[in-house]
Amino acid sequence: MKYFDFAGVNASRVAQGCMRIGGMSAEEIDRLIRSDLDMGINFFDHADIYGGGSCETKFGDFLRANPAMRDKMIVQSKCGIKPGSYDFSKEHILHQAEQSLTRLGTDHLDFLLLHRPDTLVEPDEVAEAFDRLHSAGKVLHFGVSNHNPLQMELLNRSLGENRIVADQLQFSMTNTTMIDSGINVNMENGAAVNRDDSVLDWCRLNGVTIQPWSPFQHGFFAGPFIGNPDYAKLNEKLEEISARYDVTPTGMAIAWILRHPAKMQPIVGTTNLDRLSQIAKAADVTITHDEWYELYRASGKTLP
Ligand SMILES: NC(=O)c1ccc[n+]([C@@H]2O[C@H](COP(=O)([O-])OP(=O)(O)OC[C@H]3O[C@@H](n4cnc5c(N)ncnc54)[C@H](OP(=O)(O)O)[C@@H]3O)[C@@H](O)[C@H]2O)c1
Repeated sequence: MKYFDFAGVNASRVAQGCMRIGGMSAEEIDRLIRSDLDMGINFFDHADIYGGGSCETKFGDFLRANPAMRDKMIVQSKCGIKPGSYDFSKEHILHQAEQSLTRLGTDHLDFLLLHRPDTLVEPDEVAEAFDRLHSAGKVLHFGVSNHNPLQMELLNRSLGENRIVADQLQFSMTNTTMIDSGINVNMENGAAVNRDDSVLDWCRLNGVTIQPWSPFQHGFFAGPFIGNPDYAKLNEKLEEISARYDVTPTGMAIAWILRHPAKMQPIVGTTNLDRLSQIAKAADVTITHDEWYELYRASGKTLP
């Protein structure tokens, strides 16, 4: 497993997403967390809303039973989504962060992200909430999710030292809009549409880590593209290039994300230990420049 300096924290390049652990038994969660750590995955992504809070609670049950394990992991959560609205008010952020701490059985979050942009946001209120959480030692670093550059700049103007260090965005081999628009600048084709105000370049310029969510899903949680006949050409190319490195297509889909110089940190949602070991193995593989483009084209993209 490779690591990188994430706001001063030594984080694994691949993170374990915890959105799908709500239905797992305590024994399964114990095995998952220990296996992740054994494979070198030290970063765990949560949100207050996952499983209606049950994902954080079950993860917290593990930490309550094994408090010494907390120091071995980096724990991130998110807040700001409520049923039917988004809420970045100071009260909501503070309340949800406290709830997450309680459920997770920890005295601090390493990272707290604002989950989806609240158009009614008052950046000074967010700054007050972040200041209070940071000065109490309850949250060490802050970020956002699904935000564009101007939304981050608006927040950063108020945030002072608690500026944004992460943006979690949907990205996979089949969801590449943040790359397509940069490759197709100014062309008369759909791929040129800039849907995110050049968030990829902005994050690189500003040292913000992009955390791709759902790196195996096509569409919006429409299912994995691995082994999906709708992506036959991509799967064929994944097989071919994976074989050169003695990894699997599942692993290669992550190696492809890691090859991008933006140093993204994919959040994988699988809880299958065999798949996780395939991913961990492939995280050490560096594909060539040309192989990266071969896979990009096999996913259905054309170069101008
Ligand atoms: N910020 C946001 O708005 C946002 C939104 C969604 C998710 N997230 C975060 O991103 C994480 C990942 O999301 P996700 O679970 O949708 O992502 P994913 O890693 O793309 O999908 C994982 C799901 O695909 C299944 N799967 C089937 N075949 C697979 C294969 N060959 N390789 C890998 N997975 C395969 C897994 O099942 P098995 O477990 O059986 O392998 C699992 O149910 C979440 O846990 C959450 O932390 C953030």
